[in-house]
Parts: sequence; structure tokens; C-alpha cells
Amino acid sequence: MSVVISPSILAGNFLNLQQSLDIINSSEAEWVHVDVMDGVFVPNISFGFPVLKAVSAYCTKFIDVHLMIEQPNRYFSMLQEAGAQGLSIHFEGNHHLHRDLAEIQRLGMKAGLALNPQTSLDTVKELLPSIDHLLLMSVNPGFGGQKFIEDTVKKVAQASALRESLALNFTIQVDGGVNSDNCVRLKSAGADNLVAGSAVFKSTNPQETIAKLKTSI
Ligand code: DX5
Ligand code: ZN
Repeated sequence: MSVVISPSILAGNFLNLQQSLDIINSSEAEWVHVDVMDGVFVPNISFGFPVLKAVSAYCTKFIDVHLMIEQPNRYFSMLQEAGAQGLSIHFEGNHHLHRDLAEIQRLGMKAGLALNPQTSLDTVKELLPSIDHLLLMSVNPGFGGQKFIEDTVKKVAQASALRESLALNFTIQVDGGVNSDNCVRLKSAGADNLVAGSAVFKSTNPQETIAKLKTSI
């Protein structure tokens, strides 16, 4: 099965988001990645409900929302109403993840658990049966356009081995600095889903870049 691509609109054109969504809609990407940041959990603020609503009304792809905010559980219902189909919440700073992940699924969305580069897989083992996808950050969250942390490739392989040993079937998503060079290593390590912002939207032919990320081996 080929890898799922989730272009991140954080690198899109904020003066003409429709243009960025047209690119995604007419591409081979199956998901669209929406980064919500509150300026507290991460040192940056991105966008919130009105933008998510507009994106989900127009975009034909799976709406993949990555929450980089404090106490994300305050907003699960509102996010679902705004069109989110999947929510990824961070391990870091959240105290009741087992409950939160179940609540996301109860609301009919896919539940993702996101890990910062510092967080080891051993710490989250107990949560893995409760998730639909594991989001491994390959940069420190907060900004697009950062350099890929190479150690993530090993972490993907570890996650893939853990998944097999526990007989689970969550998917492994990688987010941050993903490009046409590291995508091959990530895929062979076991990644199923690649988020890509700058690599897609700063390229001269975004649709072609998406196709390459998806098919290059
Ligand atoms: C970073 C975000 C990423 C970001 C990826 O905090 O979570 O999703 O948009 O952008 P690139 O691909 O440019 O690193
Ligand atoms: Zn993200």
C-alpha cells in the first residue's frame, strides 16, 4: 500500500488559500494537514475555527487537524463541528490522554497521538491500543520550514516494530521537514503517512511533488 500524503496548509498561500486547496484537491494527496497553534503550547500562533471551517467546506480530502494548544480537550466538539475528521493531540502537557483519545473517537473522528522529538516511545506504549495514528514530530513543533531531525527515521522503525510486536494497526505519520530526499528512508522504516508543507508549497510543481513523495522508493 502506498503512503498517504498530508500537505500542510501552514505553508500555503494565506492571501489565497483557495488556490492552495485547489492544488491539494487536484493532487494525489488523500489528507490535508491543518496545524492549530495557540502561542502557549508552541511559540507561534496559526489559525483557528473560522479558517478550519472554510478549509473543510472547500477541501475534498480527509481533514487532519494537528492541535498544538493547551488543554485541547476543551475544543473537541467544536473542532468536529468545524469539519475535523481526525484530531492529533500531543502526549506532552496532556494528563488524561486515554480519556481524551476515546472522546475523539466517540465524536466520530480518528484519534492521533503526537510525540515531540524528545518523547520516547516507551513512555506511550500503554496508549497505543487507543489510537488510530501515531504522529512522530521530526522537528520541534511551532514552525514550518525547519530542518528534518534525522533520528526520526530510527524512531519510525522502532514504532513500526512495536506495532508489530503488540499486534496493533495504528498508522505512523511523520511531520516536519519531510521532503523528497528523506521520504524514501521514512517509508522503508515503516511510515504510512507523510505531512509536507514547505516541500510541497515552495516547489515549482506542487502536484508533481506530492506524486513524487507518494511514489518514490
Ligand atoms: C510544525 C507543524 C508542521 C509543519 C510542517 O509545527 O506541525 O505540520 O506545517 O511544515 P514543513 O513541512 O515545512 O516542515
Ligand atoms: Zn503538524
